[in-house]
Amino acid sequence: MISAIDLSYSYAPGMPTLSRVAFTLRAGERVVLLGANGAGKSTLLSLCNGLLRPCGGELRLFGEPVDYSKAGLRRLRSHVSTVLQDAGDQLFGATVWQDVAMGPVESGLPEAEARQLAMETLDTLGGGHLASRPIHALSAGEKKRVALAGVLTVRPSLLLLDEPTAGLDAPGEDALLETLSACTDRGMAVCIATHDTWLLHHWATRAVVLREGRLAFDGESAEILRHWDRHTAGCGLRAPAVAEGAILCR
Ligand SMILES: Nc1ncnc2c1ncn2[C@@H]1O[C@H](COP(=O)(O)OP(=O)(O)OP(=O)(O)O)[C@@H](O)[C@H]1O
Ligand SMILES: [Mg+2]
Repeated sequence: MISAIDLSYSYAPGMPTLSRVAFTLRAGERVVLLGANGAGKSTLLSLCNGLLRPCGGELRLFGEPVDYSKAGLRRLRSHVSTVLQDAGDQLFGATVWQDVAMGPVESGLPEAEARQLAMETLDTLGGGHLASRPIHALSAGEKKRVALAGVLTVRPSLLLLDEPTAGLDAPGEDALLETLSACTDRGMAVCIATHDTWLLHHWATRAVVLREGRLAFDGESAEILRHWDRHTAGCGLRAPAVAEGAILCR
């Protein structure tokens, strides 16, 4: 669906943030993108949704190089949606339901139907009670749920989430993962950038690991859990509980 072909990116000349990162995200995949602070996770997501343009390499959508014209970016973003690390940055409606309904309204759905869709989506994420609240009066975790509801209403082919579980309580995290699993069951590809290695056991089928802007691992969750030390040495990641158990049992 989307392929990074040796993507490189620098915010400043001579200071590479990402170096020749290559991977492909396919329909229905559940991927976690892992790496220490500053490893380049958010930068990579910004390249995948066209917010940033690569300095080297190429991004492909359904096999075609991404076109960075206005129309090309509109096409990319009709397939790829993102929930930002700071979800508050992407909320623009006056109230929660208005914000969540904004995408469907802009794509031509009558307001009553858009509102209905917004309410249903909020309900599946356990955020139905927030519908009439003003955006500015939400907590950080509530903003995250609202941002996620907003992107889900536009039914992207690929959903990118930057640290979506940070700041969520247990029911919020359960609702999030259940919703995302329902999305991947319907064929959506979902990629979560996170430090939360717990997701390897409980949700992801595949892991992509960055170490200082380079790809350190790309493979099945079961494989990285089986050989944790070998695949994540120097990556600044805490071993998830089962891997720690495996280490203790050796
Ligand atoms: N707008 C920017 N201008 C300059 N440098 C930046 C900018 N954004 C990020 N960087 C740098 O690029 C590197 C990668 O940052 P990035 O935000 O992609 O990392 P990350 O893996 O998402 O980290 P975190 O886990 O803290 O979210 C870091 O060294 C960071 O300081
Ligand atoms: Mg980040």
